[in-house]
Amino acid sequence: MIHTSLTPFNVGVIGYGWAATAHIAAINATTRGRVTAVCSSRPLDAAELSAKHGGPIRTYQRVEDLLADPAIDVVDITGLPSLHRDQAVAAAEAKKHIILEKPMANSPEEVADIVQAAAANGVKGCVCFECRFSSQFQVTKALLDEGLLGTLHYGEVDYYHGIGPWYGQFRWNTGRKDGGSALLTAGCHALDALLMLMGHDVASVTSLSTKSASPIFAPYEYDTSSVTILQFRNGAIGKTAAIVDCLQPYYFHTHLVGSEGSLLDDRFHSLKLKADKGHWSRLSMKMLDSGDVSDHPYQAQFQAFFDALDRGEDMPLTSFPEARKTFDVIFAADTSAARGGVPVEVPA
Ligand SMILES: NC(=O)c1ccc[n+]([C@@H]2O[C@H](COP(=O)([O-])OP(=O)(O)OC[C@H]3O[C@@H](n4cnc5c(N)ncnc54)[C@H](O)[C@@H]3O)[C@@H](O)[C@H]2O)c1
Repeated sequence: MIHTSLTPFNVGVIGYGWAATAHIAAINATTRGRVTAVCSSRPLDAAELSAKHGGPIRTYQRVEDLLADPAIDVVDITGLPSLHRDQAVAAAEAKKHIILEKPMANSPEEVADIVQAAAANGVKGCVCFECRFSSQFQVTKALLDEGLLGTLHYGEVDYYHGIGPWYGQFRWNTGRKDGGSALLTAGCHALDALLMLMGHDVASVTSLSTKSASPIFAPYEYDTSSVTILQFRNGAIGKTAAIVDCLQPYYFHTHLVGSEGSLLDDRFHSLKLKADKGHWSRLSMKMLDSGDVSDHPYQAQFQAFFDALDRGEDMPLTSFPEARKTFDVIFAADTSAARGGVPVEVPA
């Protein structure tokens, strides 16, 4: 279908859990997308969904039926991670563009299949690394682009968010099959933000992992705390802690160090501004301080995806090829941790 500003992209959502509800509101809030179908293994009431989300929504129980719907332009995959590969490949083969929740998938082979299927079928992808579109990281990136920190030689972005029984996804996230690792299940957001800010590819990683002694997190089949040290190809170094078994407020920690200054979360110092180095200067921006999906900057990300579809281009920041680089680093890190911290090279 040829799109003009008058023909919105019809989106079919696969999975109807927590993330899906935030996606539907965000897609419908863009100028270009509208959710017209939802597919869930549970029988859903189309009239109820249409009333709840403010527009006509058809319901399907089988993914193949949703994919056979010629009116659907974009498929939004929000279900269990172990199903992402098969659903994304089938969507690509049905010539639908794809929004894909993180993790893209839980193995390098599955991620490669998804990227390959999209390229082979000429469809575009958007991976939900929506933190790249957050006020916090957009402002931080703008500060870097202005050269206020000079050349970065060290960066750390860490993820502290206890994912316990208070979250619905706990019931499947504790298993290795769907949860994967501390990085795959959620720490990927921090690692991905670090890669965006450092702006260079990673040569190798060293990672260690462990888990909390708290009985709250005992159901997890995998280590829920990991720390990864990164060697970038330009010589810079970095670090990401992925901690999903902490008992504290949600905290996305950022510390960047460069030849002209430093940034710590929303504070910075730059030699270029000649301010007092004994005190931080403060940036006004909305911080990533909540694990609630309704607070996530999906709308800006989905708008950028639809705008890129209008141009027939890969979207900025979170296309399949760009997100794949983050998963290459994650899989190398998890391999390192499984081997007790030996350095592992990241594919070029
Ligand atoms: N980008 C982010 O910040 C972010 C945040 C949350 C979740 N996610 C991702 O979104 C995906 C889904 O996570 P979620 O938190 O929405 O999980 P969820 O448990 O709410 O839903 C997951 C799946 O379970 C199904 N489901 C939910 N309730 C059900 C029920 N009562 N009976 C049968 N099936 C049911 C849903 O339809 C969905 O397919 C995962 O890939 C997750 O990693 C991403």
